[in-house]
Amino acid sequence: MSETGEPGGAAALLRLSGVNKHYGPAHVLRDVDLEVAAGEVVVLLGASGSGKSTLCRCVNRLETVDSGEITLDGVPIPAEGRELARLRAQVGMVFQSFNLFAHRTVLENITLAPLRVRRLPRERAEARARELLDRVGLADKAAAHPAQLSGGQQQRVAIARALAMDPRLLLFDEPTSALDPEMIGEVLEVMSELAAEGMTMLVVTHEMGFARRAADRVAFLDQGRILETATPDAFFERPATERARDFLAKILRH
Ligand SMILES: Nc1ncnc2c1ncn2[C@@H]1O[C@H](COP(=O)(O)OP(=O)(O)OP(=O)(O)O)[C@@H](O)[C@H]1O
Ligand SMILES: [Mg+2]
Repeated sequence: MSETGEPGGAAALLRLSGVNKHYGPAHVLRDVDLEVAAGEVVVLLGASGSGKSTLCRCVNRLETVDSGEITLDGVPIPAEGRELARLRAQVGMVFQSFNLFAHRTVLENITLAPLRVRRLPRERAEARARELLDRVGLADKAAAHPAQLSGGQQQRVAIARALAMDPRLLLFDEPTSALDPEMIGEVLEVMSELAAEGMTMLVVTHEMGFARRAADRVAFLDQGRILETATPDAFFERPATERARDFLAKILRH
């Protein structure tokens, strides 16, 4: 991979080309080109309001784009219907707010989509859910309800729930921002393990330590535009633009 952060040869799993998005008069994504190769971890950085969440929401089509194209494995992401449901199954998303179903157990939260969308037999869905709970360090919490868990535990359940659909791509939008400091590490650890196992991930985070350790590339978004993509080392040590230098100065001061 070059220092400028071009993905090295491998075919992109996710590709955004020339993506534009407006909210009314606000132009929130501007000619965005971004590729995430299979097995790659790309961390999306940028100030508040720069369009990071919007970009994620366009990728799993919670939002529509105005122009440009987003493809998954070369196939444009579908607008609606059964094809869209299939896309959603392939693209897992983990949000800042864990969005677990409060009245359901941890196990039920994880098995719901595999049962309903993938129509897995209950036994298989539950066996897989227990495997995933074990993987995120929560084997003993299957019968608990979300309110009985800490924030960090709830977020790990949310990750297990996303993994239960066997996604090809995982989107994370500030997964640790709502957590108390002592719980951030346990969630980042699960994410780092996934990255090391070869999961393809697009991650919005303000955790610069994670970005440096786990990212293959960093993309810096400023006012809806990707100003830089680079390896973490290149980006953190030699940011190419004034905007990125400002951003880093602010965020690293905290
Ligand atoms: N549903 C919406 N309707 C109108 N404007 C929106 C909507 N969602 C986002 N915006 C605007 O689009 C711009 C990009 O917002 P977005 O949430 O993508 O930024 P962000 O980089 O995720 O910020 P943060 O770091 O605060 O989460 C902002 O100016 C925001 O006010
Ligand atoms: Mg956001």
